[in-house]
Amino acid sequence: MQLSLEQQLSALSHEEIPAKSKAEIHRLATILLQKMTLAEKIGQLFQLAPPEANVEGLKWEHAESNASAQLISAGKVGSILSVVDSLTIFKLQKLAVEHSRLGIPLFFAADMIHGCRTGFPINLALACSFDPELIENSCKQIAYEIAHTGLNLTFSPMVDLVRDPRWGRVMESNGEDPYLNSQLAAAYVRGYQQGDFSSNYSVAACCKHFAAYGAIEGGREYNTVDMSERELRQHYLPGYKACAEAEVASFMTSFNIYDGVPATANKFLLRDILRNEWQYQGFTISDYTSSYEMLDHKTAKDEADVALQCILAGLDHEMVSTSYLDNLETLVETGKVSLNLIDEATLRILQFKFQIGLFDNPYKHIYANQEQYMRKPETLRLAHEAALKSVVLLKNEQSILPLKKNGVKIALIGPFADSNQVVGAWGSLAKDAECTSLVAGISALVGNENLMCLPGCAINDHDRSGFAAALELAQQADVVILALGEDQEMSGEAKSRAYLNIPGMQNELAILIKSLAKPLISIIFSGRPLELGWYAEHSDALLQAWFLGNESGNALANLLFGDANPSGKLAMSFPYTVGQIPVYYNQYKTGRPSPTGEYSLFRSSFIDVPNYPLFHFGFGLSYSKFEYKNLEIDKELLIALQQLTVCVEVCNTSGVNGTEVVQLYIECANFSVVRPLRELKAFRRVLVAANSSKIVEFTLTKRDLAYYNIEMKFTPEDRKYVVYVGGSSQAELSVEFSYQSEV
Ligand code: GLC
Repeated sequence: MQLSLEQQLSALSHEEIPAKSKAEIHRLATILLQKMTLAEKIGQLFQLAPPEANVEGLKWEHAESNASAQLISAGKVGSILSVVDSLTIFKLQKLAVEHSRLGIPLFFAADMIHGCRTGFPINLALACSFDPELIENSCKQIAYEIAHTGLNLTFSPMVDLVRDPRWGRVMESNGEDPYLNSQLAAAYVRGYQQGDFSSNYSVAACCKHFAAYGAIEGGREYNTVDMSERELRQHYLPGYKACAEAEVASFMTSFNIYDGVPATANKFLLRDILRNEWQYQGFTISDYTSSYEMLDHKTAKDEADVALQCILAGLDHEMVSTSYLDNLETLVETGKVSLNLIDEATLRILQFKFQIGLFDNPYKHIYANQEQYMRKPETLRLAHEAALKSVVLLKNEQSILPLKKNGVKIALIGPFADSNQVVGAWGSLAKDAECTSLVAGISALVGNENLMCLPGCAINDHDRSGFAAALELAQQADVVILALGEDQEMSGEAKSRAYLNIPGMQNELAILIKSLAKPLISIIFSGRPLELGWYAEHSDALLQAWFLGNESGNALANLLFGDANPSGKLAMSFPYTVGQIPVYYNQYKTGRPSPTGEYSLFRSSFIDVPNYPLFHFGFGLSYSKFEYKNLEIDKELLIALQQLTVCVEVCNTSGVNGTEVVQLYIECANFSVVRPLRELKAFRRVLVAANSSKIVEFTLTKRDLAYYNIEMKFTPEDRKYVVYVGGSSQAELSVEFSYQSEV
């Protein structure tokens, strides 16, 4: 008796599949390739997005009869985008495996970028932890959930360097520094992939968006990118390169151009750098119709031209648009495209499928009742830890924080006071309803007899009708906590902002509440740096809470009442005003530097704002008090292959145990090209017990001193270098040494 689909799905095996060697994978893929027709090869280069499916995992009813399903049965689809329901995936995979001539399995991919069913903090928040180990461990948990949704690949990590908070996708980035970006990028890949994919709970990762998407002009989504090759290589490529070195399974091309050519058809990026320089072996995939968009870029006259340019440039897999599917066969048959190029791209897709075990078990990640595997205690524990480490304490006058748990009447005011809309953009399968609001977190921790709560106003309208009640509530309180910010839908893809203010009537509400002259704690929820000048001046304490996901309220409550000590550091500078942008720490000095960063006639400055940001990259406070002293190096002269050891003593002069992110920057003067004022080269989270100190040691090599010089060689030069070590990019403790390339 034929089992139902559900019964078949429940009976699926999930035996772990031993990893195959690269040679074996290549052998098997090559044998299969030789059996394939040209049409079947081209089919492997196409990623289908079923019109009905979306990331909510909509079931694809009657998949067998749908036109797309017929493509799958004909072996003309290589992968499926954004279907995350086990039964739907099972149906589609059966179509490919049982109905197509060679039974080549599909791979399934979607965007699970800061959590899957469990909502983790947005990536920019996670970056503020400066904790690669946390990110790797979090991604292992996220991979566990992804691996139980039927998916094989997640379109993460996004490693676009971002210096412009107007861009909505800053929320999914690692911020403004190349070194921090690189360290975290590799951690994401390790966490998702876990080596050779032999673990059933590993998933393939995808490094995106290659390349330099974060440099779009004006922070305007999908806008032009234009920069020197040196700028690209020095600041924008390191994150992608770190993914390649971590053997990320795939690279996604970006929507933007580089050097006048759309990245999706950019031979310099896809072949010269990715393949020839980095020797990258994985596959490349376009972004959503980014190949087809060459028609809008006006660099291709028709879709045949799109297909021609992309395959010549080295694009392996086309997402959603069908330029390859509709044109490559003719291009080969008319001699415009060599069959070798099709074979090269197809082989990479087949190798990927062998590598992740899909030919051994096409159903390896498909489970019945997938919900039972989600939101496990260990996953939630990590989401909580991640939230604790992502929050950045920006001000804490007279140590108003942490608050006492008893006897303090608190008025919690603002649209985020009792809101669970804190998953953040790209929330995938996480649910707002499962996020702990701030008031719920505080109530759970300290009870609610001394807790009063009102929104006072909405996030983004012109209604002041709630002001009076909020004022009245604040009047009764000993302490007021403002919970304000931008809506989570105001950042993410296609959400660039020309203004960076806290929207609606919130600022007016804050000023009104401040008029009561009560102790004021401001907590800011956003997907990007916002203009916080007023809050920096008028709050007694200020916390940047980003969007922290499921554990938001619990983590904030732990921090507010001292069960946890803030340790986050800003992964991105906060401007005084949007007019300052770009304002990032590793800027060049210019030929007319302002001596103080303030306005100075005929010096590089504004007449109305300083050059420096409101809050610097790397800045973040703690309830502990850290001081740095005894910065020492083991040699004054570093010769080529030697190592330089840098030691510093970090003192915690407070009575509170705390974790400090110790940061090491270098400065190099008189290089053959300009170099940034400072460059982050190392960091480490260090727990220092109350009233004690720790010696922290770093090692520098010539590679850390290297920079793309006047000949575009990545090398140090024989110069003096200054090392700065401290708790932010403004570290003052310094020591100098010289580098010499040969004795
Ligand atoms: C989107 C994004 C990309 C995402 C892809 C698939 O447009 O640019 O980051 O992975 O499409 O959803």
